Amino acid sequence: MKTLQVDLGTRSYPIYIDQNLLGVSSLITPHVKGRQVLIVTNDTVAPLYLEKTLAAFVDFETESVILPDGEQYKTLAVLNQIFDSLLQKHFNRHTTLVALGGGVIGDMTGFAAACYQRGISFIQIPTTLLAQVDSSVGGKTGVNHVLGKNMIGAFHQPQSVVIDINTLYTLEDKQLSAGLAEVIKYGLINDLEFFEWLENNTTALLARDVEALSFAISRCCQDKATIVAEDERENGRRALLNLGHTFGHAIETGLGYGICLHGEAVAIGMCLAAQFSAQLGWITDSDVNRITKLIKNMGLPVTMPKGLSAEHMLTLMQVDKKVLAGKIRLVLLKNLGNAIITDDYDPQHLKQLLIQAASL
Ligand code: NAD
Ligand code: GLY
Repeated sequence: MKTLQVDLGTRSYPIYIDQNLLGVSSLITPHVKGRQVLIVTNDTVAPLYLEKTLAAFVDFETESVILPDGEQYKTLAVLNQIFDSLLQKHFNRHTTLVALGGGVIGDMTGFAAACYQRGISFIQIPTTLLAQVDSSVGGKTGVNHVLGKNMIGAFHQPQSVVIDINTLYTLEDKQLSAGLAEVIKYGLINDLEFFEWLENNTTALLARDVEALSFAISRCCQDKATIVAEDERENGRRALLNLGHTFGHAIETGLGYGICLHGEAVAIGMCLAAQFSAQLGWITDSDVNRITKLIKNMGLPVTMPKGLSAEHMLTLMQVDKKVLAGKIRLVLLKNLGNAIITDDYDPQHLKQLLIQAASL
């Protein structure tokens, strides 16, 4: 088993990565605060993994709540189902929540933990590649608003992250690819060696080779843990993890949540960020082709979906947490493997980029 650490002083926590970790009580329960446990999952993941996960908590007063599956249910209204369960069952402030599922369940459970009785503990058991390499680590939690993605939320760190690679064998191909978008992101922002490794190991990752998955998950978690330890609350460097996300979130919100997967929207967003970086003269056209090729080879879309105009995209991109003094700050590539956050561009050029992208 690999164990990584997110170093945040008194709020530090481990990330465990291996096969067959679900249900391993000796690993999971030392991170439980109190005697009451509520497992939060959804109606797709529950039939697959709830029973196995429950086995780890036999010595606790354990209940579960099963939410509807889908990005469109990542709302305040559905979040209430978690609070209903906690209150109906008289769960106290020493309760631990367990997030069993993908990024949607992880973000919602974490936010419920941040709010219930002003803050309780939670454990992340991510079951999608995207959640294993990104959303379960770093303590960003929240829900969507119709006007903006992840706009209601809190920073709240988990007690531990338990990554069972075997859960990835039931994931749909499309969802595996969505996770690979965030994997590529790490290579692009500050890890050229990893980007090159991804180019050489695309087939192994798509075939779900366990060694390749284990290496990629560990590398991403290590890269993320380092950034989060430096800048937990995104006052600077952490924003780099948003490469492709300003475009991507606008695509998700504009189409309606759940139409384009988060990872797919990020993939398209990374292509647009690469094209814009090339227009600014920072990377070459051959870099753009290399990035686009890797994204495509991982089974991801590389062009804007139909139905979104440049004007609509720009309006949606204004609702972004990185907007400062009305200006959209973008994560762009100064070089391959070296991202920066900047507002040093001509807004007309951004509009042109989107007009061209929307017309393809
Ligand atoms: P998701 O949670 O919707 O999961 C994708 C699908 O896979 C769902 O249908 C789910 O039920 C299913 N699923 C989960 N595990 C499975 C398994 N093992 N086998 C079969 N099916 C399984 O989507 P996601 O891609 O995991 O996460 C996307 C969400 O994460 C978005 O809401 C995004 O905003 C958020 N996110 C958050 C952060 C963060 O730092 N907090 C980072 C990146 C993304
Ligand atoms: N996924 C972006 C972040 O955690 O900061």
